[in-house]
Amino acid sequence: TGQVTYDPGFMNTANAKSAITYIDGDEGVLRYRGYPIDQLAQNSSFLEVAYLLIYGELPTGDQLGAWDEEIRRHTMLHEDLKGFFSGFPRDAHPMPVLSSAVSALSTFYPDSLDPFDEEQVHISTIRLMAKLPVIASYAFKKSIGQPMLYPDNSLNLTENFLRQCFGVPAEPYELDPDMVKALDLLLILHADHEQNCSTSTVRLVGSSHANMFASVSAGINALYGPLHGGANEAVLNMLRSIKSDGVKPEDFMDKVKNKEAGVKLMGFGHRVYKNYDPRAKIVKKTAHDILGKLGGNDELLDIAMRLEEKALADDYFIERKLYPNVDFYTGLIYKAMGFPEKMFTPLFALGRLPGWIAQWRELIEDPATKIGRPRQVYTGHDLRDYPVR
Ligand code: CMC
Repeated sequence: TGQVTYDPGFMNTANAKSAITYIDGDEGVLRYRGYPIDQLAQNSSFLEVAYLLIYGELPTGDQLGAWDEEIRRHTMLHEDLKGFFSGFPRDAHPMPVLSSAVSALSTFYPDSLDPFDEEQVHISTIRLMAKLPVIASYAFKKSIGQPMLYPDNSLNLTENFLRQCFGVPAEPYELDPDMVKALDLLLILHADHEQNCSTSTVRLVGSSHANMFASVSAGINALYGPLHGGANEAVLNMLRSIKSDGVKPEDFMDKVKNKEAGVKLMGFGHRVYKNYDPRAKIVKKTAHDILGKLGGNDELLDIAMRLEEKALADDYFIERKLYPNVDFYTGLIYKAMGFPEKMFTPLFALGRLPGWIAQWRELIEDPATKIGRPRQVYTGHDLRDYPVR
């Protein structure tokens, strides 16, 4: 067993050798399989990026076509799974609904749970990619009391998801190409981020040879927390309360710096980036474009920009190298698209799914993989005898 190293939060412990995503936190660099995030954001599509992350190379035209078609063919959920959504309270947060439904997929597909059977891993990959957006749309529709729509396989994943969220059976749904493009871009930006909390969770669960659905379901729960994926929702709540309470951004910043009641500037700071998060740069630009087009809430964008401006010039943030992260502006875009706050983190989950799948597969395929089992530094009582009374 040897010497145990105490490293809370795994600040300095690598738990994986991975060829998927490269981050240089000091320089603000992010690459998927070697390709810079800004080039992918500009030229690629979410489905293509998902393929790249999972299979290691960009697909040819034919490969992309086949991948897209196979995913479209698996969008239907088992009818019994539909009933599952009625069991939750009406105002249920969609994240636990999402993780529960994904966990339940193990019960519907007992034929594809063997992590070491290539064909079964393939079909689980396709099923998850195809069904998670449908599950998320069902959770959303349930929460607003509207009928769930069946998927329309003439549409691609992003288009279908928007239609299933915002369409109603009573009338045709017209897709807005700007919205499709913006959502596809945001999904690309979230698609992987090496060993973050949810991905490490997926790996840890997968290391026990739990199946892909069980592992991804655990990842969704890890993403739910406000320090991770839940931050996009927390940012919007923060901006809202600054606006409704009439607090000056300057005064809010003072509260943050004085660490008043644990107030943080949500959407700022990152374990790895000690520079501007390259994803945040792209999101910020998109926020301006899309809010211009969709007529989003400019006042909240103004507050966000003022907070950012103040923070970047403030010693507290400079000394700690705190910059906006990907979540700082995303909520404003989702809001402008018509999503309520509760849906922001599920949207992050849809984007992160290919990363979770790619990392789970890499772990399973790596002969060096061992079950994840951290050690501890014991701080409890020494031996003591049970008092016989
Ligand atoms: N506002 C104010 N102070 C902060 C913030 C913030 N957002 N983030 C970090 N700090 C301070 C922190 O209090 C600490 O100060 P001190 O040295 O005086 O104790 C110092 O900066 C170092 O922070 P840390 O908490 O030790 O850093 P960490 O690497 O453990 O945490 C983090 C990283 C992302 C959890 C943290 O920055 C944070 O809580 N940010 C707000 C939540 C957020 O936006 N999360 C989204 C992360 S990016 C996308 C994702 O992963 O989902």
